[in-house]
Amino acid sequence: MALMEDSWEILEEYHIDEDLGFALPNPLEELPHDYDAWIFIAKNLPELIENGQLREEVEKIPLLSIDELQGHKSQRLAHLVLGYITMAYVWDRGDGDVRKVLPNNIAIPYCKLSEKLGLPPILCYADCVLANWKKKDPSGPMTYDNMDILFSFPGEDCSKGFFLVSLLVEIAASPAIKAIPIILSAVKQQDQGTLQKALLDVVFSLKEALRVFQEIHEYVDPKLFFNVLRIYLSGWKGNPQLSEGLLYEGVWDTPRKYAGGSAAQSSIFQSLDILLGIEQIAGGGSAAEFLQDMRTYMPPAHQDFLRFLETGPSVREFVVSKDDAGLQETFDQCVEALVSLRNYHLQIVTKYIVIPASQKPRENEIAEEPTGQENRGTGGTDIMNFLKTVRNTTKKSFLKDR
Ligand code: HEM
Repeated sequence: MALMEDSWEILEEYHIDEDLGFALPNPLEELPHDYDAWIFIAKNLPELIENGQLREEVEKIPLLSIDELQGHKSQRLAHLVLGYITMAYVWDRGDGDVRKVLPNNIAIPYCKLSEKLGLPPILCYADCVLANWKKKDPSGPMTYDNMDILFSFPGEDCSKGFFLVSLLVEIAASPAIKAIPIILSAVKQQDQGTLQKALLDVVFSLKEALRVFQEIHEYVDPKLFFNVLRIYLSGWKGNPQLSEGLLYEGVWDTPRKYAGGSAAQSSIFQSLDILLGIEQIAGGGSAAEFLQDMRTYMPPAHQDFLRFLETGPSVREFVVSKDDAGLQETFDQCVEALVSLRNYHLQIVTKYIVIPASQKPRENEIAEEPTGQENRGTGGTDIMNFLKTVRNTTKKSFLKDR
């Protein structure tokens, strides 16, 4: 019983929901009326872009104080809204006509709010996936059909498909996160039976996450993803279109660089890597650096959770030290489940980025992106090399060769 109470306290301390993991439970959908001008733009983004009115409308917004945004959920909603507005303002039609200065009426409240939340002033996964959802029928289930996103980018249903499938993968993997405090205390108490059972929960949960991941084919069209949505998720770090970064007018005198929104900012995989002693970060190198950087785009409580795991007892060493073939096999099944997810993710990236990039008409390629940007992710990394490195590090982490 004490064990369950401790577990619950850990989850609460690090803002992890029992049922939804790192996702924000029941995000707010409305802000106080003072912020109607923000909501109007965010709600009508695709139309305003299509009609060529977006930038003009953004420039007309009055400079608003963030003082009326009371409470975490209201602040998360405002961060999401300002993130959408900022991405739309910078990229507009996604035709290469970019803005390098964010006007002070948006930049000032956005940066103040970002500081308050400990998030960067750019649309991140914590916004567009973790806090951008609702149930259609509140008493109904958390399924694609009964859910919707709060705000959309151009590209028809592509943003709904990408954001909701990512969210549903997070939620499917949340029992694995819920098992972590149980695993850690079982190690401390040398309780092999409880440990093995909790590790099995991780295996089942990751298998379910893989099943849910496959729904991406049904809801996300590769051409729309590559040619439309990906542009609005692009950041200004390692991006030749804004090589200096974005100037947040009225906040800082020099431009700042931030990476675009990516599920690499999800805390799920990084938590499980640490738990299982898969050394993505400790090994150093550019992949480690990128993953470390991605942590700064997570809500601070979730970053703290990763640090807490890093200082916890080593599950891996404990399992190795026990001469228990069953326990070791279950541990390896956890690693296997992560390898399968990462292999599947590589296939997805091939379908949604590598293949559409190779099919782009040559004229456009020369006119728009002369620097091989197609092979880079929204975060600006050389994606396939990066993803294979991370997958290979996972593969090297079996206790017994497979
Ligand atoms: C159309 C679907 C997807 C595409 C095209 C895609 C693309 C990418 C790319 C390009 C990266 C490299 C990092 C970057 O440049 O940002 C990346 C990393 C990553 N993505 Fe995805 N992604 C997709 C869906 C997902 C989903 C649904 C998840 C799980 C919630 C996920 C989890 C990750 C993780 C954890 C990383 C970091 C590398 C790792 O730990 O293995 N991705 N993704």
